[in-house]
Amino acid sequence: MSNPLSIAASQFLREREESERPPRRTDQERNRPAGSTSRASLRRGELPSVANPKALMTARGLKKSYRKGPIQIPVLRGIDLDIRSGEFLAIVGQSGCGKSTLLHVLGTLDAPDSGEVHFEGNRIDNLPAAGRDILRNRHFGMIFQFYHLLPELTTLENVLAPWMIAEGVWTFLRHRRLRRRQASELLEMVGLTHRAKHKPRELSGGEMQRAAIARSLIAGPKLLLADEPTGNLDKETGRQIMDLLGRLNRERGLTIIMVTHDDSIAALADRTVRLVDGRVKEY
Ligand SMILES: Nc1ncnc2c1ncn2[C@@H]1O[C@H](COP(=O)(O)OP(=O)(O)OP(=O)(O)O)[C@@H](O)[C@H]1O
Ligand SMILES: [Mg+2]
Repeated sequence: MSNPLSIAASQFLREREESERPPRRTDQERNRPAGSTSRASLRRGELPSVANPKALMTARGLKKSYRKGPIQIPVLRGIDLDIRSGEFLAIVGQSGCGKSTLLHVLGTLDAPDSGEVHFEGNRIDNLPAAGRDILRNRHFGMIFQFYHLLPELTTLENVLAPWMIAEGVWTFLRHRRLRRRQASELLEMVGLTHRAKHKPRELSGGEMQRAAIARSLIAGPKLLLADEPTGNLDKETGRQIMDLLGRLNRERGLTIIMVTHDDSIAALADRTVRLVDGRVKEY
């Protein structure tokens, strides 16, 4: 029997595709050289074509240290990683090895000390803050290890928050019925309809994680960066979430980079790499 979470996910994504018409390009945009990225094109959800469309994201020579007083703590010591479009990649490693740090650098939440990150052929680690915001709001979905839900908003409003930020208040208000329906469908997909009006402090850990997953999908990202998405869930709910992520990946082509400490969860991805001594080992 099909999982209701997966059916709702497919339906949601299909309806969103139908509801979004591509906006017109200006002459200035049409004349822009290939490979350059404008804020306007990022905002519209477009990125220029690339030489190798299979490498959705590339990391080269990423290094990152944290400073604690006079002591420098190297965490990433030269990460090289290619993520193909449509791939489901798991990154495993011991607690404290730098998995969250790497995910944050790939997602432009944190800057590397050296090295580069490219997304669809464009360097993104050195984009100005506004460009990185647009990139994260429109192209990346993020699931954080500690949820990061906004405490003053209800579950439904938390799911809607990325749209409000990405579209701006007036555009969001124009589309609010559609957006609310999409957010409600996502909540149904993760089994949280009955918690739509609750604040995060009224949710269990697993419910907060499911709300965070719904939020990460609201803007229709190309890439999902998931930090321990099942880390706080019971085994059965964790399996449902993995089934959902797997179907979003297989049926809708969502590229996923997932960090986990759990080898049995990592085994459900297409490919696993291990983070050891600040470097990536393929196996
Ligand atoms: N802001 C920070 N300042 C100083 N050190 C930090 C900071 N953030 C992380 N670290 C250190 O960097 C190392 C890697 O942290 P990170 O959170 O990336 O590990 P992790 O692999 O995600 O661990 P876990 O599996 O426990 O979540 C740890 O030793 C941590 O103490
Ligand atoms: Mg972590």
